[in-house]
Amino acid sequence: MAKTRKTVYFCQNCGYESAKWMGQCPGCNEWNTFVEETVSPLSAGKNGKRSQGLAKPKGLSEIDLSEDERKSSGMGELDRVLGGGIVQGSLVLVGGDPGIGKSTLLLQMCRNLAGKETEVLYISGEESLRQIKMRAMRIGTFTDSLKLLCETNLTVIRELIEKKTPKVAIIDSIQTMYDEDISSAPGSVSQVRESTSVLMQLAKGLGVTIFIVGHVTKEGNVAGPRVLEHMVDTVLYFEGDRHASYRILRAVKNRFGSTNEIGVFEMRNEGLGEVKNPSQFLLDGKPQGASGSVVACSMEGTRPILIEVQALVCQSNFGIPRRTAAGTDFNRVNLLMAVLEKRAGLHLSTCDAYVNIAGGIKMNEPAIDLGICLAIASSSRDVVVDDRLLAFGEVGLSGEVRAVSMAEQRVAEAKKLGFDRVILPKVCQKSVEKIQGIQKLYVETVREAIQCVC
Ligand code: TYD
Ligand code: MG
Repeated sequence: MAKTRKTVYFCQNCGYESAKWMGQCPGCNEWNTFVEETVSPLSAGKNGKRSQGLAKPKGLSEIDLSEDERKSSGMGELDRVLGGGIVQGSLVLVGGDPGIGKSTLLLQMCRNLAGKETEVLYISGEESLRQIKMRAMRIGTFTDSLKLLCETNLTVIRELIEKKTPKVAIIDSIQTMYDEDISSAPGSVSQVRESTSVLMQLAKGLGVTIFIVGHVTKEGNVAGPRVLEHMVDTVLYFEGDRHASYRILRAVKNRFGSTNEIGVFEMRNEGLGEVKNPSQFLLDGKPQGASGSVVACSMEGTRPILIEVQALVCQSNFGIPRRTAAGTDFNRVNLLMAVLEKRAGLHLSTCDAYVNIAGGIKMNEPAIDLGICLAIASSSRDVVVDDRLLAFGEVGLSGEVRAVSMAEQRVAEAKKLGFDRVILPKVCQKSVEKIQGIQKLYVETVREAIQCVC
């Protein structure tokens, strides 16, 4: 009995494996995360049997690269994040908070993909067929090449995929899938790990592209974990503010492309719509003639995104001034305020300061430093900064404005959106000189930048 039922303790946070229970996980230092799970000795034997006779090493020249051809998902923003389209036979994990729109995104992708030659299989362990149909009806018309199934038993799913070999399969979500050979509950580390490894074998062996939906823990990791991220080819995170309608799709890991790209979507009544011009979208609703509002520019991958930085500085009624930062790093804002106090002569030590990146978006690129500084200065002096002005540059501790990458693209984006003036680091002068039709103000220090605008 003891031999057939081997139990192991897994950290539910990071997947660390241990023979005995521990209070603190040595892997991730979390407390009280170990859970006993039975590992079945069967699974090793079963896999061993399956691989017999399959191992045929190939020379590089024998490998057919056309298998890796990319296919468009029908959504430009999704293709961009995937690195230029869906790679046949890849395993993609889509993580995100509940209700953010993962199922909607994948269902929409299925709609675009399903066609005469492409059979698509959507397996849901979370919703009934009726629920999926109701959602599908909001999104639009579907063809019958998209097959739906409600199932959580992995053996059944595996047999079905092996029999049908669809081009694309969706598993919604990995936390609901279970393997009968493993006695622990669905969603536990060993179940998630086993399920993913079976799906990986299917994806690689049969060339089926599989998208897995994964829920996110409150720390922001895909539940159960890290293990899962190592196994798949691509990890995408779907994030956004619940209260705002836009959603951002970000690649965290991508074996087939860059991880810097983001895709921007908007949740509408009829599903997710692509936002082709995020800058325009984020600047909509910027107040006219209000102090403390400055447009800054942050690069997301190869794409410049213009955002509105807002600051409100007012006299504090308490001994210790209150400071908050929403959408950007709190410590960075404190640091910039210290720089402004010391190097630009602003009196901020007795002031409350609130900094916000409008639209609920999160930006941490140092290039928005100058925008934050100008917004704080503008609010502190109550002077309005021109609406048609953009500022970017990293601010150092001596108050110097430092170079940032891809200055040319940022200026070009500002010009495209009809901005008249750009404040940028002097060191970037060379790279942007040839762009005509927009006034460029080169600055070396944050004090100079403030003099230009207020
Ligand atoms: P869903 O895809 O079910 O989220 P997830 O799979 O990540 O849990 O998205 C559900 C949310 O999206 C829900 O709150 C309603 C909203 N929604 C719309 O606003 N419009 C739509 O057309 C659809 C299908 C959903
Ligand atoms: Mg869902």
